[in-house]
This record gives sequence, C-alpha cells and structure tokens, in this order.
Amino acid sequence: MEQQRGQWSGRLGFILAAAGSAVGLGNLWKFPYIAWENNGGAFVLVYIIAVAIVGIPIMMAETLLGRRGKRDPIGTFRALAAGKRGARLWPGVGVLGVITGVIILSYYSVIAGWTLRYIGMAISGHLGELARQPDGLSGFFLGFIGSGDQQVLWTFCFMAATTLVVVFGVQNGIERAARILMPVLFSLLVVLVIYAMTMAGFGKAMAFIFRPNFGELTRGGVLEAVGHSFFTLSLGMGVMLTYGSYMRKQDSIPRAAVTISILDTVIAIMACMIMYSIIFSYDMPVAKSSAILFTTLPAVFFQMPGGALISALFYLLVAFAALTSTISLLEVVSSYAIDELGWQRRKATLTVAAAIFAFGILSALSVGGSDAPGNPTLSHINIIGRESTEGFFGTMDYLASNWCLPVGGFLIALFTGWALTRRETQEELEEGHGLMRFFPLWRFLIKFAAPAAVGAIIVSVILGAEYQ
Ligand code: PFF
Repeated sequence: MEQQRGQWSGRLGFILAAAGSAVGLGNLWKFPYIAWENNGGAFVLVYIIAVAIVGIPIMMAETLLGRRGKRDPIGTFRALAAGKRGARLWPGVGVLGVITGVIILSYYSVIAGWTLRYIGMAISGHLGELARQPDGLSGFFLGFIGSGDQQVLWTFCFMAATTLVVVFGVQNGIERAARILMPVLFSLLVVLVIYAMTMAGFGKAMAFIFRPNFGELTRGGVLEAVGHSFFTLSLGMGVMLTYGSYMRKQDSIPRAAVTISILDTVIAIMACMIMYSIIFSYDMPVAKSSAILFTTLPAVFFQMPGGALISALFYLLVAFAALTSTISLLEVVSSYAIDELGWQRRKATLTVAAAIFAFGILSALSVGGSDAPGNPTLSHINIIGRESTEGFFGTMDYLASNWCLPVGGFLIALFTGWALTRRETQEELEEGHGLMRFFPLWRFLIKFAAPAAVGAIIVSVILGAEYQ
C-alpha cells in the first residue's frame, strides 16, 4: 500500500529545510579554513561565481527532478528515465546518492558530536580553565579525539538527536526543527558578527575576505572552490532531490534555489568575518589544520569578556547547523527505505540510522589517527579536507568529497540537460513560478557549463592533481 507522502507546509518550509541542509560544518568550519589557506579575496570571489553558475543551476535541477518524480532518488530516476535511452542505468545515480548519504553521515556525525562535548565544556567552565593553561586546549583536544569511547559516545548522541527528528517526518520533524533552529542560528551569527565588528581586527578581516588578489590564486584553489560549492550546497547526492519531492507544485523552484544559495553563501562569509576578526585582533597563531575551530578559537573566546557565554553560544550554533545537515542526510537514506522497500517511516529511520551509526564507529575510532593510537598528532586530523586519505575517517571523506559528490552532480546535470526534454524541464520549472525569462540561460548552464566545470574536477582528481 502507498503511504501518504509527506509535504512541506509551504514555500518557507522547503526553503528553511533545504537551507538547513546546506548550512552546516561546510560553512562554519570548512569554508573559513580553506578560504584562509587560499588567501581569501580571489578565492572567495571564485567560490561565489561557482555557486552562481554551477551551484544554483544544479540545485534547480535536483529539485525539479524530485518534485517531478515524487520519490526517493532511486525511484525518481526510475520514473523519469522510463522510456528513455539508458532507462535501466539512470537509477544508478540514485543508488550512488543513497550510498553517498551513508558515507557522509557516518563521518559527519563524528565531528558534529564534538560540538556537543564542547557546549558542555563551555557551560561547565572546563573550557575556560583549559584556555588558561599553555597547550591546555590542544592537549585536551588530542586526548578527546584519541579516546575511542568518547568518540563513539558523542557520535551516538548526535545520531540519536538526528534520528529523533527524522522519525517525526517531513512536516512534524524536519520542517519543525528547521523552523526553530534556522532563525536561532542566524540570530546567533548576527550577534557574533556585531561583536566582531567591535574588534580591532575587523577591518583587516574584511579586506582579507573581499579584496581579491588574483596573483595568489592557484589552479588548485579554483578547483577547490568549485568542489566546495557542491559540498556546501548539499548537491550531488539527492538531498535537494528528496526535499524537492516534498515540495508543492505552486512554489517556485528558481526562487527557492537562489534564496537558499544566497543564504548559504552569506552565512559562510559571516563565519569568516567572525573567525578572521578574532584571529587578526588577537594575533593568534592559526593551527594549520582544520582543528582551528576546536583549538584556536576557544583560546581566543576566553581572552574576550564573557568568553564562557560566547563560546557556549558558538558551539551551540555549530551544533544546530550540523544537525539540520545530518537530518537531510538521514532523510535521503530513510526515504529510500520508505519508498523502495515500503517500510513505515519509524522502522525505516531507526533501522538505517542504526546501520549508519554502526558503520560510523569505524570513523569515530579512526579519527585520532589510526597509526598512532593514543598518541594522535594534529597532522592526523584532516576533517572534510581533500588531501588526506589517512585512516578510515579520511578515506570516507576523500571518497565522498572527491568522487561521490562531483560524479553524482555531473550525472544529475547530464540527466537533466540531455536525457530530459526541453519541454519536460521547462514545464516543471515554470510550475509555481510563471514564465521563466532565464530558462535558456539555465539550460545552457546545465547542459554545458556545469558538466564542464564538474568534469574538470573529476579529471583533475583522476590525474591526481592536488587541490593545493
Ligand atoms: N552542506 C553541508 C555543509 O555545508 O556542512 C554538508 C552536506 C550535507 C553535504 C548534505 C552533502 C549533503 F548531501
């Protein structure tokens, strides 16, 4: 029997949930870190261009596929490819998406778990004590990530929170969580940006972010910017497709995609404004690993008045952002079990979440550095970084970011641009939007520009060109 399929309550429901998926560790953590490594300015500009010409068109494509197919990624491709050439192969793109969801969620929830631990530490005052000791924070951090029990425990807590939301379904779970968490997250960010504005390093931070110096941009940096636009907008694995399948026909896909992408980009830049102002104001040595968020920042928070409160708010914000992203990852895999296997939502969600958690234990145990158990060093940690394949955690991240998302995005663009007819896509995009003036531009981008840009990433990975 067909179950009643979930639906967003309205336009805002979809936008908030999809923006919730997009805004996550990729914005608050990875973007400030890679923009820093790539000298800001020019990198930020290339990233914005990538969002505009690759990100937005592919987000529209994914959403329109989902709304038309009204199923999980596999079912959607099966339905839309029916009667076309390669009809039996296209559902493979959905299979890849579901597998990618499992992979990303399994390691993303490990890092997300850290934020919970840090919230507790900030509130209890322990974080402040550590910040006052030399090497207190990095010592703690290394011990923490090196402790298998702790890693498994906090990963479990985060997965449990994610599961609790997804079990309640599209409107009562995902949408409700996004309606509460997103405005809180945005308000917290605004408070922190205003705080940053009062700091001595704010001007320097703004110049670093917005003054492009193309001499400092490498080819690897350009590819990294394009690649990151995928990760940060949750594209290439069917999140937007699945969320699009709950979208009403009377809502505009182009308007939603543009709004979500702008929100995501603005939030990434706000995160940079906060972190760089702090770094420039206090002249902190910046950890050259992605541990910046858990070692450099807390040290600075406690040099500021009200450090305990600011740090607690900050980690709460990161946890909220991560939660709305893990929810979307779990929803893709759950929707597969619901639509394809015919399971009830509760059974589907609990079962796939348990399986992903079990798989995630491998990441949780490896995060401290697989070849140096008990004595990890910062060089072992390369979270959501492209270079490292060290340990199980690194391998999962490398696989997902370098292969799964670009390949998935490439195939989604090909399917939408070449397998679907002009009429099919135009009809779906104009539904809820009205005549679309930019349709020819979108079609050009999805047929040529997006596959070319994403193809370049894939080729560079195949050729082994490093991102740095
Ligand atoms: N977009 C999320 C972030 O920036 O943190 C991460 C993510 C979520 C990637 C969902 C991919 C995905 F399907």
